[in-house]
This record gives sequence, structure tokens and C-alpha cells, in this order.
Amino acid sequence: MIPRQIEAAESSTSNMDEKYIVGIPEIDAQHEEISELVDALRKIITQKDQRHLVRQALKRLHQTLINHFDYEEACMGMVSYPDLSQHKRTHRGILKLFEDYFDQPPALGDIEFFGKVINDKVLEHIMEHDLRMTDSIRLYLSSK
Ligand SMILES: [Fe+2]
Ligand SMILES: [Fe+2]
Repeated sequence: MIPRQIEAAESSTSNMDEKYIVGIPEIDAQHEEISELVDALRKIITQKDQRHLVRQALKRLHQTLINHFDYEEACMGMVSYPDLSQHKRTHRGILKLFEDYFDQPPALGDIEFFGKVINDKVLEHIMEHDLRMTDSIRLYLSSK
């Protein structure tokens, strides 16, 4: 998925906590979907006999993240973002958590902790890396 153009505008997404809004509507919409999938995952984790449902939810979230990271990386490439390789590394780190789970699912008692790790890593990434990236994209757009 390659962005044809990047637009800067006030985002109309509503369910995300305001501190996670980056101001690029397509990216905010993707983040909102990701945040909903993370919430759904954590809800499923609290249910009984849930291992196969957790796997399904993780597969869906994993694919959504792959598409989202491709999109962000294409945006960063378009604006020659200087920290692209570092940002990519943190994307790979998040995807690796999923791959490790699929290779070797944790013991039942550890799945809840795994859900929290996914939640925290994804949200931390938005706060720490995506906000910095989108600041840079907005700067680029305003200088055009
Ligand atoms: Fe992101
Ligand atoms: Fe990112």
C-alpha cells in the first residue's frame, strides 16, 4: 500500500485518546483501527478457552500492522525522513513479537502479559516514533 499523496489536516477520528492523534488523517484512521484490534485482543484474552481466538485476533492485528508499517515507511520515504531506518527497526521489533508468539505460543498463564506487552509497545511506538515522524511530514508539507 503506497500513499499517492499525504494530506495534512485535522483528523476526525474520535475514539482515540487525543494524545495519540498525529494529524495525518490516513495514519490516524489506521491507528484507530489498530487500537480497536488491540482492545479486542485484550478482551478475548480475558475469556476462557480462548487460545485459538487469541491466535485469530493476533493474526488479524499482525496483518493490519504489516500494512500500516508499509504505509508509514512509504510516507517517510516520500519526505526523505532522516530517522527512517531507526523507525523501521522499531516496526520490525513489534512484528517480531508476533512472529515469536506464532513460533512458540507462551503458556496459558502468560498470554495476558503478552497482550499487555503488545498494547504497550504499539502505543509507545505511536507516542515516541510516529508523532516525531508526522511532525516531520507536516513540516515537509508546509514547506512545499
Ligand atoms: Fe503507526
Ligand atoms: Fe511507526
